[in-house]
Amino acid sequence: MPDESPTDEIQDDSNQALNIFPGNWTIRNDQMFRAFDLSFSQNWNPSNFPWDQLDPKNFDQRERIAQAYWMAKLAFFEKSGIGAFGFGMVRAAELNLEDPTKKMLASITYDECRHDEVCRRACSKLCPNFPYAYKPQDDMEKKALRNIEALYGEGKRYWNGFLKAWQFLPPEILFAGFFFAEIGAETIFNIMRQTSKLDVYRQAFQNITRDETRHLVATMALLRGMAENFSEEQKHTITRQMKQGFIFLSPLLYRPKTDFWKLPGDFERVDQELEEVARNTGLGTLTLEEKMKFWREAIEKKRKEIEEIGIMVPAIPEIGVEGVEVQVKKDETIATSF
Ligand SMILES: [Fe+2]
Ligand SMILES: [Fe+2]
Repeated sequence: MPDESPTDEIQDDSNQALNIFPGNWTIRNDQMFRAFDLSFSQNWNPSNFPWDQLDPKNFDQRERIAQAYWMAKLAFFEKSGIGAFGFGMVRAAELNLEDPTKKMLASITYDECRHDEVCRRACSKLCPNFPYAYKPQDDMEKKALRNIEALYGEGKRYWNGFLKAWQFLPPEILFAGFFFAEIGAETIFNIMRQTSKLDVYRQAFQNITRDETRHLVATMALLRGMAENFSEEQKHTITRQMKQGFIFLSPLLYRPKTDFWKLPGDFERVDQELEEVARNTGLGTLTLEEKMKFWREAIEKKRKEIEEIGIMVPAIPEIGVEGVEVQVKKDETIATSF
């Protein structure tokens, strides 16, 4: 028999039936409305980028696979965003949250699809069929594909955990936790739009950064709205989720944390080699030192705003962030997204 879906569970053990009707057109959270409204004027089309720059004949085989590798890695996190925000969008409608919150979650879901689409187009230009139906040519390619498959394989544990979290955490807590990954997302694209040397990437990252800035404004507004009525214990749960977010995003923004990630022993070595090749081709991927520096700075930039809401930042000694000591157990459910 298939597992019971989390929606069934929630309907079973709460008195409130989940229903998307009658809906509402109430605007309470002005900041949320403004962020959603901006999504119309900031619309963009990935077809307009100069994709011919990624013509395979402009690169050697290593350079092609290295760029496709990074794009496939990014796509893992974009897909987690599609799933998490898409699920959040439906749940927000079922709980009849105010209108712009529902619509903003829908708009973020759409944006994450568009980001995943950038990854897909880059891969299909550079290494057609990578990674889903790719036949590796040599050892380097085999290792690259193996890394991506290992990463995607871990996605199952992530997604199961994410769904399960809606059964034991109040939805406000889960919605409130969405902001942290957006800090990470905004950071990496904002830097890469400056470090990438090819126009196609620069244009893509510029537009993605603009999306991520909007996501950050919206998810911070969501945090503010939800946290108003939080107890101290609930606020601490958000601190914990920030730490989980760091662990979840570590393969992209730091180095894979084994608290959650179970990856092949030489994953990191292969990953670093490929990222270095990708950087030199003009993709603009960052060194480990740069990742640490920029992620730390991004968190510090938001610290005041987060603390004003009454949420403490967790200590993340790996990147030099000071804060509350949080113990995340091995294999703890990660209820965050990208
Ligand atoms: Fe994204
Ligand atoms: Fe985002």
